[in-house]
Amino acid sequence: MKKFIIIKNRIRNIKAKIVVSSDKSLSIRWALLAAQALGKSRAYNLLDSEDVNSTLIALKKLGVKVTKNKNYCEINGKGLNSFSFNNNTIINCQNSGTLSRLICGVLAKSIKSVILKGDQSLSKRDFSRIIKPLNLFGVKTKLKKNRLPLKITGTDFLRPIEYDELRGSAQVKSCLLFCALNTPGITKIRAVPSRDHTERLFKFLNIPIKIRREKKFDIIKIRGENQYNGFDYKIPGDISSSAFFIVLTLLSKNSKILIKNVNVNKSRTGIIDILKKMNANIRLINKKMYNGEDIADIFVKSGKSLKSINCAKEMNSRATDEFLLIFLVCAKAKGISYFNNIGELRHKECDRLKFASNFLKMIGIKVKETSNSLKIYGNPRLELNGNYEIKNYIKDHRVCMMSCIAALALGGTWKIHDSESINTSFPKFFSKLKSLGAKIN
Ligand code: S3P
Repeated sequence: MKKFIIIKNRIRNIKAKIVVSSDKSLSIRWALLAAQALGKSRAYNLLDSEDVNSTLIALKKLGVKVTKNKNYCEINGKGLNSFSFNNNTIINCQNSGTLSRLICGVLAKSIKSVILKGDQSLSKRDFSRIIKPLNLFGVKTKLKKNRLPLKITGTDFLRPIEYDELRGSAQVKSCLLFCALNTPGITKIRAVPSRDHTERLFKFLNIPIKIRREKKFDIIKIRGENQYNGFDYKIPGDISSSAFFIVLTLLSKNSKILIKNVNVNKSRTGIIDILKKMNANIRLINKKMYNGEDIADIFVKSGKSLKSINCAKEMNSRATDEFLLIFLVCAKAKGISYFNNIGELRHKECDRLKFASNFLKMIGIKVKETSNSLKIYGNPRLELNGNYEIKNYIKDHRVCMMSCIAALALGGTWKIHDSESINTSFPKFFSKLKSLGAKIN
């Protein structure tokens, strides 16, 4: 694929019904759980993207049988802690923060060492957040300056812990849940709420887990060493991928879209609540439950004038991957928008807070950025006609895709580099846009 794309034309009059790519978080979690199940598991509609493929390759390196055909992916699990691999096996997690953090929990009881590596972006990300609790469980870790490569050595003598997860990070929480799954006794986690797919999957598999909301925390108790059987799962659409089309539709004249069969788990729908508060016309229809997850179609219509928002702190983890898009909407909304306690955005595939503030300035929007907040001075008359270039130096897929939405919605001539980064989460992103009438060269 070419390494950059050019967009010169805006999009208007979207009238479409689409499906987006499958949920990345659920796809990775299904694979990691299937690998520790007893017997065969099948996933239908598993996301075919680099992050998920890195997960399947990692499992194969651990001796797990993984096969893929046109309709499903099958994993033949041999049970908890049943991996078979050579000491110092190298696993390359490429760009995937989720794989690299969650697999540490999966490996907690494997006494042979594994060396985890990653691409340029992942190698810049912080691992101290999982090292401390892993060590408390008894897992040995070796790394420099809290960055990959990480050598991890599990133990036969895991001990249950009590731990406070205060960042609202689902990757940290899930790493701990996977550790706890392999640990005898009861592990107790007090966590700032974040996406809860792992907990829901544990419940679906009858793994003994209890969750109680206490003030602003989830108190999670899990009894480990409980074997479960192989299971089939159909992965729904990803709200984070839907978000690009929600925002494109909102910012494009005379447009409406129906996005079918999306996972609308409450811990992920911050973007919908935020945009609705900004006066956007969005509705969830055909709501249903599937294997413990909430699914719906998302209907979006443009035309209403958008107003600024003072974003509540509780939204931060519920919209964590969607902030670049939300900031773009704020640029076009009337009034000043405020986002506080969003320092975690500096720890994503790139420093998204820094990127966002530079991006907004580039398109003529006044912003005030601090270490963990952003203030955006919206301009409802914002229209672009200059030349814009996005150099995405560590290839953040969401930076690339948000820039495409800005180009298609606001006008101007755009050269967007590192377009291959979309393969991390949404390889069909450009073809979906083209199906709506976008011209992308
Ligand atoms: C994810 C959790 C979030 C999110 C990431 C996927 C997950 O990361 O940004 O894209 O699947 O658990 P944090 O745990 O760093 O918030």
